[in-house]
Amino acid sequence: MSFIQLSEIKKDYYLDGVVVPALRGIDLEIQQGEFFCMMGASGSGKSTLMNLISCMDRPTSGKYILEGRDVANLDKNSLARLRNKTVGLVFQNFNLLSSATALENVELPLLYGGIYPAERSKIAKQFLEKVGLGDRFHHYPTQLSGGQQQRVAIARALVNNPKILMADEPTGNLDSQTSEDIMAMLTQLNKEGLTIVLVTHEPDVARYAKRVVHLKDGKILKEERK
Ligand SMILES: Nc1ncnc2c1ncn2[C@@H]1O[C@H](COP(=O)(O)OP(=O)(O)OP(=O)(O)O)[C@@H](O)[C@H]1O
Ligand SMILES: [Mg+2]
Repeated sequence: MSFIQLSEIKKDYYLDGVVVPALRGIDLEIQQGEFFCMMGASGSGKSTLMNLISCMDRPTSGKYILEGRDVANLDKNSLARLRNKTVGLVFQNFNLLSSATALENVELPLLYGGIYPAERSKIAKQFLEKVGLGDRFHHYPTQLSGGQQQRVAIARALVNNPKILMADEPTGNLDSQTSEDIMAMLTQLNKEGLTIVLVTHEPDVARYAKRVVHLKDGKILKEERK
């Protein structure tokens, strides 16, 4: 059984009474432990597909099985609960809380999870050390470089032990050396068993993935395996 199984997934957005078909029939399976990448031109539906896979949104039609569970029709609360325990999310613009230190940012998901302060701090520090920021606990986002901010975001995404890490253009705001560092980190996490789903425009970034799917106009155009 596949970890993720999408069949005939369609997603329409409705804007001012006009239907915008963003996904027009997606069939896709992702196995546990994969390093999977989606590419495609702007507007091809990458983020839309990402939002569906990560349970941020629901498809208009089609079937989505996540770990054997039919999630296409779950209500919003059930979907949010499932997302919190299954998915870690990383974004292009880091999405850190600017009024919180690196440590506080990483502690946030644990706070929402009801973990006590001492334990929270201990776990968050371990993850910041894992991403090489053991000496930056008390820095605010503006006091960190872009690459360091993305490391904080990765630590925050990992702190609940998700089964899958999803990253939409995680290197889009980083220079090429820093991008390589971040991709090396994701590669290491994948070697440790984490399933990774990545969206990127850049072939240099996509080459780290073991499987690349190309989207065009809301459909899968082709697939490459390494
Ligand atoms: N909330 C929305 N309301 C209406 N249309 C939307 C919405 N979000 C996306 N779309 C449309 O759906 C299509 C797919 O958008 P999506 O954001 O998935 O593209 P993308 O491949 O991630 O592009 P990019 O590379 O620019 O991030 C586009 O035509 C877009 O205009
Ligand atoms: Mg996008």
